[in-house]
Amino acid sequence: MEEKKPHHVVCFPAPAQGHINPMMQLAKLLHSRGFLITFVNTDFSHKHLLRSRGADSSECLDGFRFETISDGLSSLGEAMEDPVGFCKSFQENCVSPFRDLLRKLHHPSDGSRVTCIIADAIMTFTLKIAEELGIPEVLFCSNSACGQMAYFHFQELIRRGLVPLKDESYISNGYLDTTIDWIPGMRDMRLRDLPSFIRTTDPNDYFLNHHRDQAQNAFKASLIIFNTFDDLELEVLHGMRSMFPPRIYTIGPLSLQCRLMTDRGLNSIKSCMWKEEADCLKWLDSHEVASVVYVSFGSTTVSTPQQVTEFAWGIVNSNRPFLWVIRHDLIMGGHSNFPQDLQYKIQERGMLVSWCPQEDILAHPSVGLFLTHCGWNSTLEGISSGVPMLCWPFWADQQTNCRYTCNEWGVGMEIDNNAKREEIEVLIREMMGGEKGKEMRKKALKWKESAEIATKEGGSSYTNLELLIQELLRPRE
Ligand code: UDX
Repeated sequence: MEEKKPHHVVCFPAPAQGHINPMMQLAKLLHSRGFLITFVNTDFSHKHLLRSRGADSSECLDGFRFETISDGLSSLGEAMEDPVGFCKSFQENCVSPFRDLLRKLHHPSDGSRVTCIIADAIMTFTLKIAEELGIPEVLFCSNSACGQMAYFHFQELIRRGLVPLKDESYISNGYLDTTIDWIPGMRDMRLRDLPSFIRTTDPNDYFLNHHRDQAQNAFKASLIIFNTFDDLELEVLHGMRSMFPPRIYTIGPLSLQCRLMTDRGLNSIKSCMWKEEADCLKWLDSHEVASVVYVSFGSTTVSTPQQVTEFAWGIVNSNRPFLWVIRHDLIMGGHSNFPQDLQYKIQERGMLVSWCPQEDILAHPSVGLFLTHCGWNSTLEGISSGVPMLCWPFWADQQTNCRYTCNEWGVGMEIDNNAKREEIEVLIREMMGGEKGKEMRKKALKWKESAEIATKEGGSSYTNLELLIQELLRPRE
């Protein structure tokens, strides 16, 4: 009798840490349920992954393969030196290599069939290729549902003439405080709480149009996966489900779903683009419970040396121990040379690293506060660990995530965009020792519990993952 081939899923994340991590988690979960996985990296992420691990990278695990396709980026460079050029490059240059790869993998006539493509929702070109080759495609949103709901309404914001802004003065003249009360499931929103790409005066702005288009593109997908859980984004998901014909599968936090995985082979597959400095876990061991401020601005934020210095003063003046991730490419123009007295205080109270195992850090009992840029993965990881957050959103859906963190979930406070040391110090003190901080810590622990319930057997995300798997296994003509 002919041996039955496993279902083959091709996973294709956008080449950025915040997109690769959750896609990798999903890929591992599917592999642990018997799917054959092809995980596609572009050259850019592949080279970063290689560099972060040292010499060899070729993970070898039965039924879990890696493929690399060209993205037209000639050097490793840093993506945020030219974010538009970076995004355009992979959006344009990955089309043919991705199609060629699928043609190589998908031969229904001889029984080699790709069951499904799971592609990042921002890789807008993949749906068309899937259609051409007759392969079902599922979209994966690595951002929040609230952020995606805002993207779904970019078209309407433009139609209503709210966006693009009439001129630069609209950024600071109070216009961004305009109430937006017509997006289904989103309450108490202002224009400033929508993803940063609305803050443009250019009707041809690349990110504004790309995110409008990716959202419209998503309407064509048969299924959309979100790394979130129903209780967390209840109203917005309800709004989305009612306006959306494709089915929405909320299966997060994926990091929690993966935590129970015991397969050593799978656990050995890492997706870090920078080398982790794991020593900081030992450093945390030497501190009291909930005493340390963990500071990280994710994988794409860039900042001026002046702003980083302002943060450094605010953090040291708060007089709390801190662990701060300063990526090699965080500071525009290279590393900040902190003045001697500041340098001395940093060494006295804190630890600086260039990258760390963030999930483990947040789960460490010594961490009492997360100063974050509100990237969706970081936000979910903070929620899953019950750690309150001090929010300094940079771009994309981070403004929306910040609003939800502070207003909807009650687990954070926002720092002004033009953050000053006094404000940073006061907010850290309040969050670490004040009444508001205590209240937020309690709420954060409640959300942690909700996230755990959602991912346990019988919980909404656990059940949705089962349903998603059944859907992927469903025979198609
Ligand atoms: C961007 C967007 O802002 C985000 O909302 C979007 O959905 C994905 O891309 P990014 O800057 O990469 O996000 O931040 P985030 O989404 O928080 O992802 C960063 C990831 O890097 C997290 O999973 C975090 O655990 C990890 N990380 C960060 C580390 O492992 N170590 C570190 O030192 C810092």
